[in-house]
Amino acid sequence: MHGSESRYEAFLAELRRDQLRRELTQIAARDARTLEAGGRTYVNLASNDYLGLRFHDALIDRACDWARAFGAGSGASRLVTGNLDRFAHLERKVAALKQKPAALLMASGFQANAGVLQALFDKAAIGPEPQVFSDRLNHASMHFGCQAAGVRQYRYRHLDAGHLAVLLEQHARPDRPKFILTESVFSMDGDVAPIPEIAQLARDYDAMLVVDDAHATGVLGEGGAGLSGGADLVIGTFSKALGSFGAYIACSETMRDYLVNRCGALIYSTALPPQVLGAIDAALDLLPSLDAEREHVAALADRFRREAHGLGFGTAGSSTHIVPLVAGSAEAALRLSEALREAGFWATAIRPPTVPQGTSRVRCVFTAAHEAGDVDKLLAALATSVGKAAETAST
Ligand SMILES: Cc1ncc(COP(=O)(O)O)c(C=O)c1O
Repeated sequence: MHGSESRYEAFLAELRRDQLRRELTQIAARDARTLEAGGRTYVNLASNDYLGLRFHDALIDRACDWARAFGAGSGASRLVTGNLDRFAHLERKVAALKQKPAALLMASGFQANAGVLQALFDKAAIGPEPQVFSDRLNHASMHFGCQAAGVRQYRYRHLDAGHLAVLLEQHARPDRPKFILTESVFSMDGDVAPIPEIAQLARDYDAMLVVDDAHATGVLGEGGAGLSGGADLVIGTFSKALGSFGAYIACSETMRDYLVNRCGALIYSTALPPQVLGAIDAALDLLPSLDAEREHVAALADRFRREAHGLGFGTAGSSTHIVPLVAGSAEAALRLSEALREAGFWATAIRPPTVPQGTSRVRCVFTAAHEAGDVDKLLAALATSVGKAAETAST
């Protein structure tokens, strides 16, 4: 072992002591509703495949067709020879879906946030240091982009447009370019940002509004178009409701051109492979016809949220298909996740640093593949866990 590794070992030991150590669990999934692990089958409450499209024949068939037609890989970055003509076809579709003049596909949502924000805040291009106003709970990949660009973030209270207005008023300098960053639906809380109010503030203070629409695209909004209306630049992923992989940016033609010239994450990375492009293409074609699936997901989540409240569970500000059961300590979240697992449900305990200290939770995610009976059994399992906790407390 290299001498430095003892330091990492000590770091890992500390994580274990604090119940914060993470591990990779081997699973197999053969449909969108369940997963297999350790020889047992569970109802999967931890996937972001909100419409159950991962196993849809149309995606699988087109992925296979495009791999056969164009190869298993793209062979190079988009600026070299990886820019298969299918990209232009898909970017037209994404631009239309997001009602923007242009779109650009990239490798993953994480890479898009990290790379695009770094490019946007590049002082070599925009001159004075930008001022970046961010929701406090924005996804880690947005922070990566800000850190990579070396910009200071003014972090406003979660979803609080009033606090954002105060920070803009206190700090905004007319000589410096301004940006507002938010998710539309927050990944760990399942709540929704007040985008119209934030967009109004962006106009009032001449700030560029960047919205990460990862958890809304496909499953929320008119025809699954997401909730990013009013944003100047939208970043999203095909890895969640669209069932496969890859990311998009929807923006102006100028912004697209700029990113092609300055976004290292696009320039220095191999283009998405043809089979992924095929799956994206099929998912985009299906979206307008999936209203019934979107309604089904919303109804399952609504009922679960209501009845979980009745059992005494807090669900943060959730109003979408993502419903966290807030447990408090990391240990309590792990215990609840374990109790659900014993009852046949796979729901992940989410702990710091992914969520703030004291707000560890079990994130329950509803998808079009779930059935009403799954919610019945899940609520029964929760009721049992509440009963057991009460018994333990009274002995
Ligand atoms: C809000 C948000 N943005 C971006 C990403 C990253 O997307 P991808 O999984 O495509 O890298 C995620 C996924 O976890 C996310 O929750």
